[in-house]
Amino acid sequence: ALVSMRQLLDHAAEHGYGVPAFNVNNLEQVRAIMEAADATDSPVILQASAGARKYAGAPFLRHLILAATEEFPHIPVVMHQDHGTSPAVCQRSIQLGFSSVMMDGSLGEDGKTPTDYDYNVDVTRRTVDMAHACGVSVEGELGCLGSLETGMAGEEDGIGAEGKLEHDQLLTDPEEAADFVKATGVDALAIAIGTSHGAYKFTRPPTGDTLSIQRIKEIHARIPDTHLVMHGSSSVPQEWLAVINEFGGAIPETYGVPVEEIVEGIKHGVRKVNIDTDLRLASTGAVRRFLAENPAEFDPRKYLALTTKAMKEVCMARYEAFGTAGNA
Ligand code: G3H
Ligand code: 13P
Ligand code: NA
Ligand code: ZN
Repeated sequence: ALVSMRQLLDHAAEHGYGVPAFNVNNLEQVRAIMEAADATDSPVILQASAGARKYAGAPFLRHLILAATEEFPHIPVVMHQDHGTSPAVCQRSIQLGFSSVMMDGSLGEDGKTPTDYDYNVDVTRRTVDMAHACGVSVEGELGCLGSLETGMAGEEDGIGAEGKLEHDQLLTDPEEAADFVKATGVDALAIAIGTSHGAYKFTRPPTGDTLSIQRIKEIHARIPDTHLVMHGSSSVPQEWLAVINEFGGAIPETYGVPVEEIVEGIKHGVRKVNIDTDLRLASTGAVRRFLAENPAEFDPRKYLALTTKAMKEVCMARYEAFGTAGNA
């Protein structure tokens, strides 16, 4: 059944677990996530970006998600709009039946230009007023997402500040966060604590301080009733990079956020963990390997079924690690 983000994350907070929010664009992703949730008894957040709506079309996305609730009626599902760039975008998603929206007012309508604080408060508060009147939850964002190592936002996803960010811009200020939540009434807040979107987060193997756990603790202490959201939370599985590169790919050395660091964040108030890149890598690896090993095959179901299997394994691992398993 469709549930609101607030309901789901309140339960997660009460029981001390985190929920991965996977980006979806197609049937195989939706099926992989739902089968993994079914196998581990986990609640689900399916999120669709503007890019997903452009790729699949809003009606197809909506019905894919509704189909998930029909085939798996016992699993709570949040249908969430990722990175809305204006109140109007969020309003259209609410009209489409989304049970949760993100108003990312940390960036302008182009999804690139950092905005000032007052703009962010204004668009977010207007979205909250509209969404709450419809029983829909709202996620806001405060701060500039960017890698603590490279200072880059990871702009290849079309969402993120351009150019190199300074270190103090990369961490959300706890006092400002408290003020923002009070002024807007958001249910969940995406914070900048060292992550960036995409596969190119870190150039060196992580040594345990990829994220600022200290900053997560400080923010959680100021706004204990606001669910913290961590964007850019892919771990960039080295096994899948190796498969991609073994079978014709050319992805340079790169690292993501270690699962153990995300688990540490969950201990300190992180409830929603956004993951897109890991499923992209797993499905691309599965396709490359299958086509390289079976050059005479041309039935897309053969390789697409393998993408589902590869993504399902990643999802199950996250549901187990984040403590989501057993909570559906
Ligand atoms: O936040 C970024 C997500 O990875 C969505 O990416 O806009 O390419 O669908 P996308
Ligand atoms: P990744 O690129 O790390 O998977 O993050 C996805 C995300 O934050 C979507 O909003
Ligand atoms: Na931001
Ligand atoms: Zn994001």
